Amino acid sequence: MTNLADLGVLGLATMGANLARNAARKGFGVAVYNRHGGRTDELIADHGSEGRFTPAKTIPDFVAALARPRAIIILVKAGKPVDDVIAELVPHLEEGDIIIDGGNSLFTDTSRRFHALKEKRLRFLGMGVSGGEEGALEGPSMMPGGDAEAYARIAPMVTKMAAQVDGTPCCAFIGPEGSGHYVKMVHNGIEYADMQLITEAYDLFKSVYGLEASAIAGIFEEWKTGELDSYLIEITAAVLRKRDAAGGALVDAIVDEAEQKGTGRWTAQSALDLGVPLTSITEAVYARALSGRRTQRIAAEKLFPHPTNVARKPEKADIDAIRDALYASKIVAYAQGFEQMTAASDQFGWNLRLGEVATLWRGGCIIRARFLDRIREAYDSGEIAPNLLLQSYFRDAVVKAEPAWRRVVSLAVEQGVPVPAFASSLAYYDGLRRARGPANLLQGLRDYFGAHTYRRLDKEGSFHTRWGQDGDEISV
Ligand code: 6PG
Repeated sequence: MTNLADLGVLGLATMGANLARNAARKGFGVAVYNRHGGRTDELIADHGSEGRFTPAKTIPDFVAALARPRAIIILVKAGKPVDDVIAELVPHLEEGDIIIDGGNSLFTDTSRRFHALKEKRLRFLGMGVSGGEEGALEGPSMMPGGDAEAYARIAPMVTKMAAQVDGTPCCAFIGPEGSGHYVKMVHNGIEYADMQLITEAYDLFKSVYGLEASAIAGIFEEWKTGELDSYLIEITAAVLRKRDAAGGALVDAIVDEAEQKGTGRWTAQSALDLGVPLTSITEAVYARALSGRRTQRIAAEKLFPHPTNVARKPEKADIDAIRDALYASKIVAYAQGFEQMTAASDQFGWNLRLGEVATLWRGGCIIRARFLDRIREAYDSGEIAPNLLLQSYFRDAVVKAEPAWRRVVSLAVEQGVPVPAFASSLAYYDGLRRARGPANLLQGLRDYFGAHTYRRLDKEGSFHTRWGQDGDEISV
């Protein structure tokens, strides 16, 4: 009825530009704005023919180009830029208009913005978008949280823009406040763990068995056909296969320092706050931090002699063992991440539907994997235990992998190859599968030095022993 646009996209760096193109290609009218107008011109010059774009050079023009209630996705750097852009937009918006933050914002910032905008009678969604630049264009996984009615208004657009798996869009309303960004944050934490596990497998093949990158690529290509089938395994093979201009493996020329923008660290920090043992993801964050200490590592290598490798090519059994260790560790990382989301949901009253989260991670996102179907099935079956590891499919899988998992971790320890995510996942599993651990002693120590009290197995109540006095136990 009008030429007004259905959706506004503000911020036209790669993600924003590709999301705008995605919406336009799906038939929606898209108003686009970027602080530096050059990018807007570029987008229109290069891709203007892909759909109905309305380029705007000022915020008032941008807002005026949108049908009411207006829906504006902002894709700018997380942190202050998001607040700045919101502050710029607000004076031009009207009651009921919707701002959608599609970046990787910290969930507490999103909750704050959600409440602040509600007071101004504006509606806010924090929407995690995963899939990198290709996903943004071809169909990402989207995790919108915040105002449910606002989601209902944009659902026809975003569900069409999202990746589709078996006819189901990888986009669904997550819950109130910053829950969408929380789920995206945990997605990224799992992404960190997944990648760390892959690099540990690579390191074993390279450092213990002396394999070349192309040979390791062949192993990952093989793994892609089995239960490890996933986007990250697929691109690992591609990265390992790539040769550089000099003819060597490109990966051998890349500096071994991993960078990070914060979502993995936030995941670990939130787990600490919630008291959830999130060892695999946290080790992955630490491993990136240690990788960044390259100067120290170079100095230390000269000081500490290194064990030699086993000096033989891996046999099929060796390769399968590393695959099993990777799979079991991956199950632990996901189990921990899902337990964290359960804890966050309880803590913040979000009512997260975790089976649905698994469903929308099946396609479009970086951690998309065949494995996610198993998690979804676990939630659908109603059998779901407080921890995914206790659910029959995953229990059977880790039990099957356990002997190989131990052999691989032992080998790595003997050979001096660090496998923090493999090893910590195994330690978590060993800690979980024991009805009685050693924390009884810990409680005794706490009571000794601080009268912190302990409970007993054989009677109700709290107790303290007067360790330094008469040695008697008293009920407190
Ligand atoms: C995604 C990615 C994306 C981004 C990461 C990278 O889901 O599409 O996770 O969000 O690539 O934030 O994070 P680091 O720079 O911290 O590795």
